[in-house]
Amino acid sequence: YRWEITRSALEQRVFAIVRAESYEKATAAADALLGAGITSLEISLTTPFALEAISTLRRETGDDSIIGAGTVLDAPSARLAVDAGARFLVSPGLDPEVIRTGHRYGIPVFPGVASPTEMLRALELGADALKLFPASGYGPGWLRDVRAALPQAPVLPTGGITVESAPDWIAAGAVACGMGSALTEGDRETVAKRVSELLQRLEDAVPAAA
Ligand code: 3PG
Repeated sequence: YRWEITRSALEQRVFAIVRAESYEKATAAADALLGAGITSLEISLTTPFALEAISTLRRETGDDSIIGAGTVLDAPSARLAVDAGARFLVSPGLDPEVIRTGHRYGIPVFPGVASPTEMLRALELGADALKLFPASGYGPGWLRDVRAALPQAPVLPTGGITVESAPDWIAAGAVACGMGSALTEGDRETVAKRVSELLQRLEDAVPAAA
């Protein structure tokens, strides 16, 4: 069910973003992240052969990992991503057709928002969580202020989040952070070190509910 996928996709309070120059780099980055213990990641559709990468990862990892599609800009891309096996859809913007398409096939959609008005619109459209993008232009204090008025909004800050800043966003009320370059740059060993440091920092800052 949609709510179960949402829950699993955001359970670690981080989902990784793989935006690569090639299919090979994308699948290598995804393997490194999954090997390091990340359970949820999106392959951005700007990546060449992104749909093939999604299908391959789905086939290889089964239901152990939650593989989604990112940078889903319109309904046709949403449908292609669903057919490729994406289990959630992420977008930098708010297109009702993307939300409808994901929901028609029972998968959650996290559209991009960047203001309280857009957050309200996304909630009205039934978005499963709201990607605050690009979060680098805001800060945890901004999120805390907005959530005072909209505590019902499940927010996913994304763009420019670092291992150091992620716990501050979670402490400010974010449900999870979307993280790309801060996790994926470097060799396999570096990725493993960053991921384990991140998961530890998140746990220290805001222990997961029992
Ligand atoms: C992206 O656009 O690739 C995501 O927002 C991730 O951004 P980041 O690499 O700054 O985490």
